[in-house]
Amino acid sequence: MSIPAGKLPLPELLAMKRRGDKIVMVTAYDAPGARFAEDAGIDVILVGDTAAMVVLGHGGTTPVTVDEMLFLTRTVSRQVHRPIVVGDLPFGSYETSDEDAVRTAVRFVKEGGADIVKLEGAGPMVSRARAIVEAGIPVMGHVGLTPQSATMLGGFKTQGRTAEAAQRIVDGAKELEAAGCCSLVLEAVPSPVAARVTRELSLPTIGIGAGADCDGQVLVYHDLLGLSEGHLPRFVKRYANLSAEIRDALTAYAAEVRSGAFPERQHTYAMPEEEQAAFESVSSGDGGEHDQRG
Ligand code: KIV
Repeated sequence: MSIPAGKLPLPELLAMKRRGDKIVMVTAYDAPGARFAEDAGIDVILVGDTAAMVVLGHGGTTPVTVDEMLFLTRTVSRQVHRPIVVGDLPFGSYETSDEDAVRTAVRFVKEGGADIVKLEGAGPMVSRARAIVEAGIPVMGHVGLTPQSATMLGGFKTQGRTAEAAQRIVDGAKELEAAGCCSLVLEAVPSPVAARVTRELSLPTIGIGAGADCDGQVLVYHDLLGLSEGHLPRFVKRYANLSAEIRDALTAYAAEVRSGAFPERQHTYAMPEEEQAAFESVSSGDGGEHDQRG
């Protein structure tokens, strides 16, 4: 695999952890979002399966298909130069066997242009991660709250709140590191659990609802920009309120079209005066002799 000039090299994430430089990751699903993220100096763009919810309007992440995710991943990866692009393997595309996992991961690299793929869970998924790494594709793990298995986890709930559950998360994280994962998302776990994983593992951890001790942070694009509506998890910080701005703009546009205030002269095209005069002096020439339809 050749690395395009300007692309943030993957080992740099590890170097950032060692230097104590925070890694910034955000999700993106389309060309403008990808360009905005690159312009803002984001290090890693995750084309997350949250697309199912924030782009496609499903109630959870499980319905999104491989083809839908590939379409979005390709759209993002062809827009950006420096950020590392992570393709999120959707539910049902890797759990069934190591072979299926490798086959799907290869598609995300070949067809989606992803630099890394992400999968959820430890336990049996450790073998999937190892198989993908052995196929030469970098893998980002994801433990704690894993939305694809939210039903099994009893809903979208904080994970690792008992000492035993916390230890299971630490053990799973260590197994994923041993399998060759290059980084790890920690979602909705108490900060002491994330701090321990971050301290005890050499790979960089990226937190979402996992406290300030992680090596980096990730938020969903629509959540941080105020494009998501309804209940938001406690870990979301809104940096803008774009829903309100978009609604206001569309309402103003509708009102101006209805009142005739839009379009104005500067939004319309003119023709040379003599051409217009010639055009207006001739009748349309149909003479009313066309066939009557309808
Ligand atoms: O799909 C996604 O957006 C994610 C993040 C929440 C980490 O997995």
